[in-house]
Amino acid sequence: MSAAGGLISFAAYSNLTTMANQLLKGKKGIISGALNNMSIAWKVAERAHEEGAEIVLTNAPIAMRMGEINGLAAAIGNAPIIPADATNEQDIENLFARSMEHFGGKVDFVLHSIGMSPNVRKGKHYTNLNYEWYKQTLDVSAMSLHKMLATAYRLDAIQDWGSVVALTYIAAQRIFPDYNDMADAKSLLESISRSFGYHYGAAKKVRINTISQSPTVTTAGSGVKGFDGFINYSNAMSPLGNADALACADYCIALFSDLTRYVTMQNLFHDGGFSSTGVTQEVVEKFAGKD
Ligand SMILES: NC(=O)c1ccc[n+]([C@@H]2O[C@H](COP(=O)([O-])OP(=O)(O)OC[C@H]3O[C@@H](n4cnc5c(N)ncnc54)[C@H](O)[C@@H]3O)[C@@H](O)[C@H]2O)c1
Repeated sequence: MSAAGGLISFAAYSNLTTMANQLLKGKKGIISGALNNMSIAWKVAERAHEEGAEIVLTNAPIAMRMGEINGLAAAIGNAPIIPADATNEQDIENLFARSMEHFGGKVDFVLHSIGMSPNVRKGKHYTNLNYEWYKQTLDVSAMSLHKMLATAYRLDAIQDWGSVVALTYIAAQRIFPDYNDMADAKSLLESISRSFGYHYGAAKKVRINTISQSPTVTTAGSGVKGFDGFINYSNAMSPLGNADALACADYCIALFSDLTRYVTMQNLFHDGGFSSTGVTQEVVEKFAGKD
């Protein structure tokens, strides 16, 4: 009886969390970074479609070799896929131009969900970075947001009161040693979102924010050394526990919707309370009695 009760309440909860409210009805958006069904961007694309949006998907040409993105595109109303290396200005121009052609007008929202560090991938220590790779980290993971925004600004590709969201991590504010040069990239990403948020806001009322997400099991996330320890620690340090990719997608939907029109130039923590927590009882107990 109690087990059945549990099932019913879980079902009610899951309906609640996935219930579509047509929050993005009539809106058109570009979603980058959906690599496979673990990607945060993948969940955002699915949720945006459920909420009534039309979508263009994009990723680096090399990331599409596995072809998984085709399955996502088919599942969300045959969304077009426009390949673009986010470091390449011509690719980005083509992405916005073709998206506007497809939609027959401007876009309402853009998700920047792009990150990569050759230094992390190849195990270079922060005190001994390869500077060519460091430049790539900054270009792919941060300057790409500037390139997307500058291109959209020049082509006037985003509707007035449109919304741009980029995903970031708290290593921009605090040291997490294995996050390496990605921490520097995230600081730059957050700064670009603030600076461009001013200019785009003043000119076109376009809002730009970053969401600082809990550690999440994805291809990029798991690339960080010691990720298991990292994610478990973060969970123990968050009163609500780690936020997962689906919850992050829900937050993105809220920011793309008209319900958040005056939120801009913010770094918004979506982390179960981690960023405001000094210590939790669970962590204190782990250390109790140790000298
Ligand atoms: N997973 C986490 O723990 C976590 C936590 C906070 C923030 N984030 C951020 O979320 C975003 C999405 O990452 P994810 O965790 O979903 O992992 P993911 O590996 O699924 O996504 C990263 C995406 O970046 C794309 N990409 C890499 N180089 C590119 C380029 N040159 N041009 C265009 N696209 C390129 C990849 O193809 C991939 O789709 C990243 O910015 C990441 O830093 C992740």
